[in-house]
Amino acid sequence: MDFRFDIVTDYMPFFLKGMGITIGVSLAGVLIGLILGLFIALGKMSSNRWIRLPFNIYINIFRGTPLLVQLLIIHFGVVPLFMSPSNPLVSLVIGLSLNAAAYIAEIFRAGIQSIDRGQMEAARSLGMTRVQAMKLVILPQAVKRVIPPLGNEFIVLLKESSLGSVLAAPELMYWGRAAAGQYIRVWEPYITVALIYLVLTLSLTYLMNYVERRLNTDDQR
Ligand code: ARG
Repeated sequence: MDFRFDIVTDYMPFFLKGMGITIGVSLAGVLIGLILGLFIALGKMSSNRWIRLPFNIYINIFRGTPLLVQLLIIHFGVVPLFMSPSNPLVSLVIGLSLNAAAYIAEIFRAGIQSIDRGQMEAARSLGMTRVQAMKLVILPQAVKRVIPPLGNEFIVLLKESSLGSVLAAPELMYWGRAAAGQYIRVWEPYITVALIYLVLTLSLTYLMNYVERRLNTDDQR
């Protein structure tokens, strides 16, 4: 088998452009997912079961159906109601954000519930309201515990953003498929794309390890 490096170099500008979009879309997905996820986590922890219900339904639907199906419904069903022609990047960011929010909500809930209940009791006995105690005592401690799983979610999202190629969103995988189609070659485009994804996820892993180490040394002071 001959490996045609000329295909790789020809397409490199597109791969790099796609990589930028992959990074941007994933970043937007986690950031929006973070905000929505915190809201959903707090809703799911309400003491009123009727308030909890819609949040539970949301989480179950988005974690219980394939992201690919969600993206197709959003892009060809929901977004066209508001936008025509619908932009696949918009659909991809919406899909990734809504999906990530469901997973992130559970990450937050686990983080918040892992804080000893004595912390809430102590804050309440000092005269804080539940909201004050949550904001000033519980959440600051929970943040530290949710950072590792959130980093993990970012990595997952970065890889899952490749499903955007099905919507023709011009992210990294889209250009890989374009090159494969143009040259009718398998190895050159897909191996290159795989390596670029690998570099991205490994860099993120290193970054997360660094952040975690920083947080741990803070504990020992
Ligand atoms: N591939 C899985 C799916 O199609 C993963 C979904 C995304 N996972 C995540 N942690 N955001 O449902």
